[in-house]
Amino acid sequence: MRLDRLLANSGLGTRSQVRAMIMHGKVKVNGTVVNDSSMHVNEDDPVEVDGQQINCQTKLYFLFDKPDGVLTAMEDKRLPCIADYIPAELKSKKLAPVGRLDYHTSGLLIITNDGELSHRLQSPRYEVPKIYLASFRGIDWTEDEINTIRSGFNIRDKGYDEKIAPAELIVTKKTSDGIGKALLTLREGKTHEVRRIFAFFDKEVIELRRIGLAGVTVREESDGCGSIRPLTEEELRMLFEATGMA
Ligand code: URA
Repeated sequence: MRLDRLLANSGLGTRSQVRAMIMHGKVKVNGTVVNDSSMHVNEDDPVEVDGQQINCQTKLYFLFDKPDGVLTAMEDKRLPCIADYIPAELKSKKLAPVGRLDYHTSGLLIITNDGELSHRLQSPRYEVPKIYLASFRGIDWTEDEINTIRSGFNIRDKGYDEKIAPAELIVTKKTSDGIGKALLTLREGKTHEVRRIFAFFDKEVIELRRIGLAGVTVREESDGCGSIRPLTEEELRMLFEATGMA
């Protein structure tokens, strides 16, 4: 792609504005000052403007249905990880998962190279709803417990008080056979938060699957696990809307 187009696409100004920057020697490609606006550059070439590295990558957005038993990491020497599911032609696109799911959690993970969207989806500031489907072992939930979750509460499983933000629990199957099912909607993303909330109320999560994020969903059943596909325009719109980027 032409250097001026690539800089304009990166949001640095109009074509004529970025050409002026180039003319004034403010732009370096691969560490060398460049004065030719029509120079061809690759998305992977390091580009600096006024000494600042510019992210020139085309923005890509995928929905990955993570299987149980896969690490939320782009590289691991021992265990299966997300990179194993990313097609070879996308390996250079600096893709990264938005947040983390535990090794034994399956379900919805957004994978993108859009750092701003990733940051906002994870920030508690935007209160992006994340829906988890949990199978659990333990006695039935009481109304009091469900109300406590609804109001928010302090947890102290690490030796100090930590605030759990208001969340919503809907029990979909009672524990007559010892195993119940519940949907928990969180608007923050603390580490192991679902498992910790259930443990606080003396219940053990035995299977966990994230099925929704900001209106984007995957099937409740885990039989589609391991699939990866680009987000649709509509799904992307929901994520941008939920994070104030629409
Ligand atoms: N909460 C958990 O306990 N585990 C996850 O993977 C995600 C949320």
